[in-house]
Amino acid sequence: MSKRKAPEETLNKGITDFLVELANYERNVNRAIHKYNAYRKAASTIAKYSKKIKSGTEAKTLDGVGAKIAEKIDEFLQTGKLRRLEEIRNDGTTSSINLLTRVTGIGPAAAKKFFEEGVTTLEDLKNIEHKLNHHQRIGLRYFEEFEKRIPRAEMQTMEVFILKQLKKVDPAYIGTICGSYRRGVASSGDVDLLLTHPDFTSQTEKQPKLLHAVVEHFESVGFVTDIISKGDTKFMGVCQLQSSNKYDEYLHRRIDIRLIPKDQYYCGVLYFTGSDIFNKNMRTHALEKGFTLNEYTVRKLGVTGVPGESLKVDSEREIFEYIQYRYREPKDRSE
Ligand code: TTP
Ligand code: MG
Repeated sequence: MSKRKAPEETLNKGITDFLVELANYERNVNRAIHKYNAYRKAASTIAKYSKKIKSGTEAKTLDGVGAKIAEKIDEFLQTGKLRRLEEIRNDGTTSSINLLTRVTGIGPAAAKKFFEEGVTTLEDLKNIEHKLNHHQRIGLRYFEEFEKRIPRAEMQTMEVFILKQLKKVDPAYIGTICGSYRRGVASSGDVDLLLTHPDFTSQTEKQPKLLHAVVEHFESVGFVTDIISKGDTKFMGVCQLQSSNKYDEYLHRRIDIRLIPKDQYYCGVLYFTGSDIFNKNMRTHALEKGFTLNEYTVRKLGVTGVPGESLKVDSEREIFEYIQYRYREPKDRSE
């Protein structure tokens, strides 16, 4: 097709453009091929029409332009836009971007970028798999499985398994599954495993081996199936319990493993048990009492507001005591 259009083709460009857009919407989103054809046909006859259309009634005299399209043409001529199209655009954009962000590894910015490249469905995403990073590919591969929450019974089985395997690597490891599971919630979105080892404190060298040995063992027994990322202190990946019954397989689940220095372990356990709202409230309370609390430490604030040394912590309860906050069991930490 020539780039420069004949004058008669641009006369009603506003109208033909919205008809083509509606056509594509019907085909791509609704898979309504008849509506698609109807809009295309109307657009094509209008494009060939040699006068500037002044009303829907005038357009209706043309082949393929029915009452409904005539109505839309009137709306467009009177208001300069089409409410239906605005709805579709807004709605379409939002829902596509929302869908894309459900893939782990795709945040709002990446979703917007892919959407602008024409990606609106998971199928589209599969077609541009070469443009996805490793994390996003895993997110796409396990999309349906990651969408499913993990029933508490499975979390319990996983906890028993994980703690048993941990002891096989080294009986000195301490492990806690935090997150919603520790709060007693009926189902969890992922597995948040925290690890520590007495050899590792904030005063010692980094010990990535302590994390990697566990991950490698989990891989060797088939529990960890994929690695998203593996750093010195944080592992992100995919795990799956092995079922004894091939007809009743477990799903792939997202797992994060964090290795924490022993002296910071309970601040970590507290933080990663959440909930996030509870954490916020507790932190605010700490500030009111003159302390600063984060996922690593609790420290007293000096008169100038500068935090002092990290306070010694050997249990979650001690953190509550320092900041004079009523102790709450994990199950009572929703807010
Ligand atoms: P998540 O795994 O995101 O939350 P969750 O385990 O409570 O819920 P889900 O069942 O959906 O997995 O994070 C674990 C904990 O980390 C969370 O409970 C509190 C803490 N956290 C924050 O305090 N702020 C945050 O922004 C995030 C992401 C987590
Ligand atoms: Mg979680």
